[in-house]
Amino acid sequence: MLIAQITDLHLGFGSGGDFEDNAKRLRLVVKTLNELAPRPDLVLATGDLTDHGDLPSYKRLKKILDKLAMPVLFCMGNHDNRDVFRQVYPNAPFSGGFNQYAVDNLPLRILVLDTLETGRHGGGFDEPRAAWLEQRLAESDRPTLVVMHHPPIDTGIEWMTIGPSEAWVARLEPIVARHNNIVAILAGHVHRPIISAFGGTTVRVCPSTQPQVVLDLDPMNLDNPDDRPMIVAGPPGIGLHWWNGKALVSHYTDTDEQGRAKILARYTVKMQGFLKHLAHERAEGSAGH
Ligand SMILES: [Fe+2]
Ligand SMILES: [Fe+2]
Repeated sequence: MLIAQITDLHLGFGSGGDFEDNAKRLRLVVKTLNELAPRPDLVLATGDLTDHGDLPSYKRLKKILDKLAMPVLFCMGNHDNRDVFRQVYPNAPFSGGFNQYAVDNLPLRILVLDTLETGRHGGGFDEPRAAWLEQRLAESDRPTLVVMHHPPIDTGIEWMTIGPSEAWVARLEPIVARHNNIVAILAGHVHRPIISAFGGTTVRVCPSTQPQVVLDLDPMNLDNPDDRPMIVAGPPGIGLHWWNGKALVSHYTDTDEQGRAKILARYTVKMQGFLKHLAHERAEGSAGH
């Protein structure tokens, strides 16, 4: 099973409208995903779907994502608004007032969490949501993928990170740690690819379809704005997660990898012999040599 991930779409940033940069970027992502071979089975859109949680932006989101050739699962980010989202997606699954749900009809079970805490950038996961997760995890031992907007890890990028001592992170971690069938936690929010350990599994953060946060592990002095770059534009990022039946393999790239980089090798007759040699080596290895 192949799962694409898009995150932090932030539609409605700046001028808004059909021709805003983030709408253009999302249309490019949709085109890229539709042209992928093999084609992903589904798309996860992991929050910050809009920048201001406004109705025109959610309508624009639907108009653009309706062009996807595969189904899409949503989760809420700190820039989202549940009630406005539901006006545009009235059939979106909700439980206890949160956009939290289980998907049970796929080779990999998917649990989508809702970490939106209205008024906070840093997210939340209160007792009712924790109880919901406990109940879902108690239902099944199947390999399970947890999906949420906020990665509950110290990323080292201080201004964007979730405090590792935050109460909601401390509430979530032991629940995750008690279940060794969680193959990974997929998240967004930080606008760049990051991987870390959490509760005995991995948290994997997907780059944004919007501009990326700069890789900068040097903490900022909040009393001294030093003009350093914080956010940079570039091709929209995407994630591609392959469930091979044993492990979830995550790839992160952007929508213009081949356009941006100089191609140094192509599959030509010249490469054919080398590839045959590698295939032979694999076959020998499988035969125990
Ligand atoms: Fe975001
Ligand atoms: Fe966010």
